[in-house]
Amino acid sequence: MTTVTVDLGERSYDIVIGEDLLKNAANYITPQLKAKRVAIVTDENVHALHGKTLETALAGLETHMIIRPAGENQKSFDGLQAVLDALFRAGFDRNDTLIAFGGGVIGDLTGFAASVYKRGCQFIQIPTTLLSQVDSSVGGKTAINNEFGKNLIGAFYQPKLVLADTSVLKTLPLRELKAGYAEVVKYGLLGDKSFFEWLESHGQDVLNLDPVATAQAVAISCETKARIVAADEQERGERALLNLGHTFAHALEIEAGYSGDLLHGEAVSAGMEMAFEYSAAQGLCPLSDAEKVKTHFKTLELTSINDIAPLLKDAEKLLTHMDQDKKNEGGALTLILARAIGEAFVQKSAPREAVLNYLTHLSETVNA
Ligand code: GLY
Repeated sequence: MTTVTVDLGERSYDIVIGEDLLKNAANYITPQLKAKRVAIVTDENVHALHGKTLETALAGLETHMIIRPAGENQKSFDGLQAVLDALFRAGFDRNDTLIAFGGGVIGDLTGFAASVYKRGCQFIQIPTTLLSQVDSSVGGKTAINNEFGKNLIGAFYQPKLVLADTSVLKTLPLRELKAGYAEVVKYGLLGDKSFFEWLESHGQDVLNLDPVATAQAVAISCETKARIVAADEQERGERALLNLGHTFAHALEIEAGYSGDLLHGEAVSAGMEMAFEYSAAQGLCPLSDAEKVKTHFKTLELTSINDIAPLLKDAEKLLTHMDQDKKNEGGALTLILARAIGEAFVQKSAPREAVLNYLTHLSETVNA
């Protein structure tokens, strides 16, 4: 078991990483509670697979299950209202605790519900996907989507604890595991070349869920994220690096209509390839590094640019989608680019013409 602390003064919290934590969840959760009542917010899939284990583990508490359908559309005003209504109906008060038990959708929705329920009650994250264990459950970004885009309505609201049980990943479909792995690679690409090199040798072990390799990959990812969040909680600077590949990825997700056809992590692997390719095309980064990224994704059969050719057809439209990114300032594009593997940087006022040229060239190449 590994514990990583997110150091935020009075709001500091631990990320506990290890096998079989779910069965022993009470040992970690009970000390965090102000009252013995908890609402477990989960989705139908996670509930069917692991709901009993968590309920049994928390038998000494007063537990209330809120089970939502699975899917991104739960991150909506309707999804939020359903969770809040369930809390009101059950008479929850501010001393009670919400537990987000699921992937990124449940984590973001529950965290946002906790931030607004009676002006705020505490919450705990129990992420059940690789993506949520290494990224979305850590750092306090909570949000819902609306017709204008993803995560546009939300709050920075930190959990009291994150319990990342790596044994739960055994029930995850390979496609989701690969999507989460893209966020693991991100930490190597943005600031830790040696971690990327370790993944070049051990990435397949992580996807095979070798316990040692998985625990190491989750721990290194969480350590990097915890350090960045502690330094820049509200994304005034360095935290933006965690969005490597995400501006391209969000445009692809909008183009795909947030459908199950393209998972967030799949968009992120293609988006990171694009960020490296674009950086190389601009002479900012060696082409050999962009190629190494591509090769790694190809070796592990992660989603790559060539797999999503139809989404790249309309370069102008993709650029319009990129205009909606939250990192943009004063109508100018902000991009996270790379000088090399392990050396990402923020480029403000990115030249639109150059981005459009790249997207047009890419579209022509992959759709030839
Ligand atoms: N997922 C990016 C961040 O938490 O800042």
